[in-house]
Amino acid sequence: MSKFPTVRLRRLRSNESIRELFQEVRLSEKDLIAPLFVQEGIERAVEIESLPGIFSFPLSSIAEEAIRIKELGINSVIIFGIPSHKDEEGSSAFDYNGIVQKAVREIRKKVNDLTIITDACLCQYTSHGHCGFVKDGKIDNDLSIKVLAKVAVSQAEAGADIIAPSAMMDGQVKAIREALDDHGFSNVSIMSYSAKFASSLYTPFRYAANSSPSFGNRMSYQLFYANAREALREIQLDIEEGVDIIMVKPAIAYLDLIYRVKSLFNLPLAAYSVSGEYALVKFTAKAGMIDEDQVMLEFLTSIKRAGADVIITYFAKRAAEILKDKYSH
Ligand code: PBG
Ligand code: ZN
Repeated sequence: MSKFPTVRLRRLRSNESIRELFQEVRLSEKDLIAPLFVQEGIERAVEIESLPGIFSFPLSSIAEEAIRIKELGINSVIIFGIPSHKDEEGSSAFDYNGIVQKAVREIRKKVNDLTIITDACLCQYTSHGHCGFVKDGKIDNDLSIKVLAKVAVSQAEAGADIIAPSAMMDGQVKAIREALDDHGFSNVSIMSYSAKFASSLYTPFRYAANSSPSFGNRMSYQLFYANAREALREIQLDIEEGVDIIMVKPAIAYLDLIYRVKSLFNLPLAAYSVSGEYALVKFTAKAGMIDEDQVMLEFLTSIKRAGADVIITYFAKRAAEILKDKYSH
């Protein structure tokens, strides 16, 4: 039997004040992690064509940008390097003088209280553009995790707080945890891209970072988007290997997984709203077809509602601007 007319859900929606009072999920700039691109061989910040409003910075202005991010109330950045030198083994990914290592030292020196996360992968640094070490035309897992461990240690030495391995190699978290501990970095955390899908939504990032594979694709290491249970196994294994923070990537097309992961595991959960998600909103708004800020807030709130504790998003700065205004008075 219907409870109407005694029950009326519209009572709690009748004005702005009561709606705000019973709002279930509230997005905060404190939930956001801002991606930061640092590029070798450029003189000034260049806008990334595939990601309007996002810039690639030279070392000389990377700290300034980190300060702007911090001033918006955002607590954390994730750094991506765009090196000028690439080779077979991706040696600039673990070079003391690599672009990421330099950027971390620079930010550490000039910015206080900012949590620095570094993406640990090889694809921007290898001539073949794969995330692992290639041997006889195949990605060699066990050699790859050795290289990834070196990358992680070099980033921790530079001053990173959290290492974020994104190569989807088996055993990468274990190899990195052991290497960090062996080198005296037992307090450096690992945020693994645990459930990273082989998504077509990474194209704008690869365009920016020049990191597309020169042969084949990433299906032999990243997850197929049809497989949710396999994704849960990936997360389970990362937990057994000692991960501190788990991640689902991309976000918007994988909200079901964010929800399931949150209800199954008690670790902090990050969601990565990827370049293609940003580009879809940006270019549609440019065509005048949607309200960019409103769609942005709807997407980010949905990711939080699904269960993400923190969100990596290219909208971080814009969202922080709006959220600060909204809740600061
Ligand atoms: C490196 C890496 C990628 C992204 C984050 N780290 C690219 C890839 O896997 O091809 C994608 C980020 C995005 O699309 O925003 N492995
Ligand atoms: Zn990669």
